[in-house]
Amino acid sequence: MTNTPTSPPHQPIAFVGGGNMASAIIGGLLRQGLPAASIEVVEPFDEARARLLSAFGIAAQPQAGAALARAQLVVWAVKPQTFKDAALQARAHTAQALHLSVAAGIRSDSIAQWLGTERIVRSMPNTPALVGKGITALFPRAAVTAADRVLAEQVIATTGEHFWVAQEKDLDAVTALSGSGPAYVFFFLEAMTAAGIEMGLTREQAYKLSVATFAGAAELAHASDDPPQVLRQRVTSKGGTTYAAITAMEEDRVQAHFIRALHAARARATELGDEFGA
Ligand SMILES: NC(=O)c1ccc[n+]([C@@H]2O[C@H](COP(=O)([O-])OP(=O)(O)OC[C@H]3O[C@@H](n4cnc5c(N)ncnc54)[C@H](OP(=O)(O)O)[C@@H]3O)[C@@H](O)[C@H]2O)c1
Repeated sequence: MTNTPTSPPHQPIAFVGGGNMASAIIGGLLRQGLPAASIEVVEPFDEARARLLSAFGIAAQPQAGAALARAQLVVWAVKPQTFKDAALQARAHTAQALHLSVAAGIRSDSIAQWLGTERIVRSMPNTPALVGKGITALFPRAAVTAADRVLAEQVIATTGEHFWVAQEKDLDAVTALSGSGPAYVFFFLEAMTAAGIEMGLTREQAYKLSVATFAGAAELAHASDDPPQVLRQRVTSKGGTTYAAITAMEEDRVQAHFIRALHAARARATELGDEFGA
């Protein structure tokens, strides 16, 4: 796991798709000192272009054009459903570039076919990238050079931690864990907040306690050499309050259901590749 390299790239970078994930990465690049003039964005949706202008001072183009040709790296941040169309519209202008996809499910074989190049890195970031706390897994196609890897890492490192996986199929598991993962945390935050309100706390109190507990427990796990079972046992004395809660969750098989949910996410990632791939 690494946060290096910390310096941003110097080369012009293009984004195809200017939504949530593109904005998270663009925000990271600008925070690290890349000038806005070095970033091109293709984004057909008027409102998204207006957001990019007000948030970052970047005037996005409504469609792919010759401006893309100066980019040394093209980041693909479109939905899996629109990747093929976007790729076919842009390919005439991007032959010289390294390509970095953040799209869920879409396999690099499909991307290579649509773009007519082998220089592709597939990746799976997550939305804490918005606050520089993301985690991204990356996979390089065989033609990706060491210099290409450094360029991809320079971009992704501005959004948080990253590591490389050896097999492309592992990215579907990464998607299920960390790509979709922030939503699971928000789901539990909703449940803890609702429970707090049911027990008489105000919404503000319940939410503050829930968020601080997630953040604090995650920080503790990060800092500790002990596995989560041990950390959990330390807050669970027999016959105590945590014991009552964990026993109720075990009776309801919450852990098994949660694991099943992640398998569903991974299956959907694989399906997206079949459904919207080449
Ligand atoms: N959000 C996450 O948590 C997350 C995490 C990891 C990976 N990802 C991946 O990141 C990718 C983007 O997700 P997102 O959440 O950023 O989606 P998003 O906010 O909907 O952004 C995608 C943008 O691409 C635009 N677009 C559509 N067709 C285009 C084209 N032909 N050329 C250029 N732009 C086009 C869309 O415009 P329209 O609205 O007009 O279609 C939209 O604004 C997805 O593949 C997703 O799997 C997302």
